[in-house]
Amino acid sequence: AAGAGLVVVANRLPVSLEEDGTDGGRRRWRRSPGGLVNALEPFLRTQRGAWVGWPGTAKAGGTPARAWRHDGLLLYPVALTADEVDGFYEGFSNATLWPLYHDVIMPPRYRRSWWDAYVHVNRKFAQATADISARGATVWVQDYQLQLVPAMLRELRPDLRIGFFLHIPFPPVELFMQVPWRTELIQGLLGADLIGFHRPGGARNFQWLARRLAGVREERAVSDVGDEPGLLGVAESPAGRRTVKVGAFPISIDAADLDRLARRADVQRRAEQIRAQLGNPRKIVLGVDRLDYTKGIDIRLRALHELLAEGRVTAETTTMVQIATPSRERVEHYLRMREDIERTVGRINGEFGRVGHPAVHYLHTSVGREELAALYRAADVMLVTPLRDGMNLVAKEYVACRHDLQGALVLSEFAGAAAELTSAFQVNPYHLEEVKSGLEKALTISRAEAGRRMGALRAQVLTHDVGHWAQSFLSTLEDRTPVGEPVR
Ligand code: UDP
Ligand code: G6P
Repeated sequence: AAGAGLVVVANRLPVSLEEDGTDGGRRRWRRSPGGLVNALEPFLRTQRGAWVGWPGTAKAGGTPARAWRHDGLLLYPVALTADEVDGFYEGFSNATLWPLYHDVIMPPRYRRSWWDAYVHVNRKFAQATADISARGATVWVQDYQLQLVPAMLRELRPDLRIGFFLHIPFPPVELFMQVPWRTELIQGLLGADLIGFHRPGGARNFQWLARRLAGVREERAVSDVGDEPGLLGVAESPAGRRTVKVGAFPISIDAADLDRLARRADVQRRAEQIRAQLGNPRKIVLGVDRLDYTKGIDIRLRALHELLAEGRVTAETTTMVQIATPSRERVEHYLRMREDIERTVGRINGEFGRVGHPAVHYLHTSVGREELAALYRAADVMLVTPLRDGMNLVAKEYVACRHDLQGALVLSEFAGAAAELTSAFQVNPYHLEEVKSGLEKALTISRAEAGRRMGALRAQVLTHDVGHWAQSFLSTLEDRTPVGEPVR
């Protein structure tokens, strides 16, 4: 058994094999995409924990057979076959659960073979975790790909303390009730001692479903702890007569670390260089996202297009940069969305660009932390317009990089981050005129107003960092005394 007292289980390891990673017999690794890894990895390293996950390849012989050390972490690989990647990852996780949990922006597809693969792969993760966890260890299961792991793991290893955190939104009950396997999913999650969500609303939806579908009896009333969204309730499962806690824990970033990075002379020089390379426009507008249909990249492009067409913004003074990180490229919805976005970029540049000066610089790539910090520093306006997002760390990262108290954040009210970042220009991404006027206001804001807003945003982000998030989740998980007042 592993010596590690804390084991994180997530679909992906913090590093993934390069596509051609086994060429010449040598493996090449890159950091895995997405907010989950960026948030959890630095924290887990301070705990010298272990991480169980998929190395991101279905290549035969690609996956290392044994655990290895990486930057102070112990990594345990779970190998997936090509069929498992199809059914479990691209199918049930990303063509059923992902759209369903993001309010059916795209229609979720329900396929029995995908469900079977999901059950099978969840069992694989549970077994791998059971095999390596020390006696009495704390296991922290992550995200929508592994919702059955808590109950499966509990059956294999009743001695473990098991937490689960959902990094994406938990949907309204009417939508969740569509799922043919809704009871199995709820029962899978109920294997945990603590189930965490970003927002109190998600926790409440889950509690309703647990009562309705799994006969969980609610023993305690809602209790909010200070201004933190604390525990929402305590429930007892009739089967196990265990207490399952449910709560809201908004995730965050390592704000102090990013603040330090953004202050570095080389990063500031790079920010100036970026501005110069863009032709020193008066205003730079930035978008940074995985290329995902939940992110509303198309909407912000349409907003810019109309503002340019109406002459409210000119391409001589304003340049947009959109970083679009490749993601889930074999899932059909993603393919279609990419084509749509690239067509829109082409149209905007065709109408408003000049030789050497496109209106939109679109980069289908992933950039590293330092380059990202420089981009955040260079951007006058950060556009974060998801139709639905669990949290959105990019919004918080932008704020952490603006110690100069300049820059303006346009933020969708449907990002989890909107609950905390109330001094941003908040917009309804379904309301195009509102996105346009939000962008226009952010482009014309005075320095004083920008400073006031950014000061308020920074006060929030710098005091609620990822360490705070992880500690409050884990201490709630370890705490065995029930919380809240009994229902009378
Ligand atoms: N990110 C990155 N390089 C890129 C684009 C994004 O490192 O080229 C990181 C970004 O800094 C952030 C994460 O990817 O930490 C995205 O997290 P977010 O919560 O915004 O969205 P997710 O991808 O998890 O849906
Ligand atoms: C989001 C999800 C993560 C996922 C990441 C990248 O952040 O919450 O669970 O790892 O996107 O997506 P991918 O499918 O490439 O792992």
